[in-house]
Parts: sequence; structure tokens; C-alpha cells
Amino acid sequence: MSAPVTAAGPAAEAYRTAARHWATGVAVVTAEHAGESFAKTVSSFCPLSLDPLLVSVAVTRHSPIVAAVRADGRFAVSVLTDRQAHVARRFATPGAGRALGGFTAVPMRTEATGAPVLEGALAWFDCRLHTVLPAGDHALLVGRVAAAATAPGRPLLYQDGGYRTLAPTPLTSTGVGA
Ligand SMILES: Cc1cc2nc3c(=O)[nH]c(=O)nc-3n(C[C@H](O)[C@H](O)[C@H](O)COP(=O)(O)O)c2cc1C
Repeated sequence: MSAPVTAAGPAAEAYRTAARHWATGVAVVTAEHAGESFAKTVSSFCPLSLDPLLVSVAVTRHSPIVAAVRADGRFAVSVLTDRQAHVARRFATPGAGRALGGFTAVPMRTEATGAPVLEGALAWFDCRLHTVLPAGDHALLVGRVAAAATAPGRPLLYQDGGYRTLAPTPLTSTGVGA
């Protein structure tokens, strides 16, 4: 019988090291409840389903944004451009993702549902809450997309603990792929 995986054991260390190799985009999940705004930098965003239109984002289970989304029934996900690393850093800072009356230093607006959407995002998804699924120490927020749009720019990426940008040369130029 193998030993159980714990957050502190060698298997968890291997998990963390392996996970650092996973390259992702960077997004900010936002919500509003009772006059307070919530924002959190995430890499766990996933476009989930076309029929119906669903997206998901995994957020630390005890994060206040989970309670806000449950209570308010809506949230938005804004995909960051490579000019928004400062926004990613800000909303990854403990305690910085919560503000009474909104975030004055980071412009936001509302779209279809009334959830805050970041100005200048590469893409955004405005969602009504579909379901919240338990996922260990995280909660998987699944949203039904009410509106989405894109703007020009290049994505902000995250890999091996650092922010990165896309290399301008697509791999197709080597003859691999379509
Ligand atoms: C690039 C990046 C991606 C992150 N992705 C997630 C994520 O998907 N889910 C999550 O719960 N936290 C994620 N975090 C961590 C949170 O952004 C961070 O712990 C949190 O916002 C800290 O504030 P709090 O402790 O006040 O909640 C990520 C951090 C960074 C820098």
C-alpha cells in the first residue's frame, strides 16, 4: 500500500515541481457582493463547454471570493495581456484582492451580468454561476457565459514561477503541425 499524499510529503514536493513546468495564461477572476469588490489572479481558468457555454476556475476553497460568488451568483474572468503583469502581481498579493467600493487603481466596468470586468483585458468572460464543485483544498467555480469579447494584444504567460510572453515565431514555421 502506498503512503498517502500529503501537502508536505515528497509526493507533494514532486507535484509542485512538476506543476511548475505547466505553462498557462494568466487571468483575474472578479466578483462583487454587498458593495465590496473581489479580485484574484488565477492560472486555473479553463474554457469548459460549448453547449452550454461554460468556463471554470479553481480557487482556494476558503478564499472570500468563493463566498462572494456563491452569494451574488455571478463572476467574470479577464484574460491578461503581457502589459498587465503589474495587475497579476497586485491581485496575487495576499489581502490586495478585496476592496470596499471597488479597486480605484485598477479600472473595471460592468457588462451583461454586473460582475466587474477588467479594462484592457485581452479577453473576458462574464458569467452567471452555474455550480460550485468541491476539488480538495480548492473550489471549482463553473460559470455559464452571458457575454464574452476580445481586444488586440498578446497574452501574459506564467511558467516556472515567472511571468513570460509568447515568442513571436509559431512552431508551424518548422513544418510541424497544420
Ligand atoms: C500566476 C499566478 C496564478 C495563480 N493561480 C491561482 C489559481 O488558479 N487559484 C488560486 O486560488 N490562486 C491562484 N494564485 C494565487 C492567488 O492569486 C493568491 O494566493 C491570492 O490572490 C492571495 O490573496 P489572498 O490570500 O488575499 O486570497 C495564483 C498566483 C499567481 C501569481
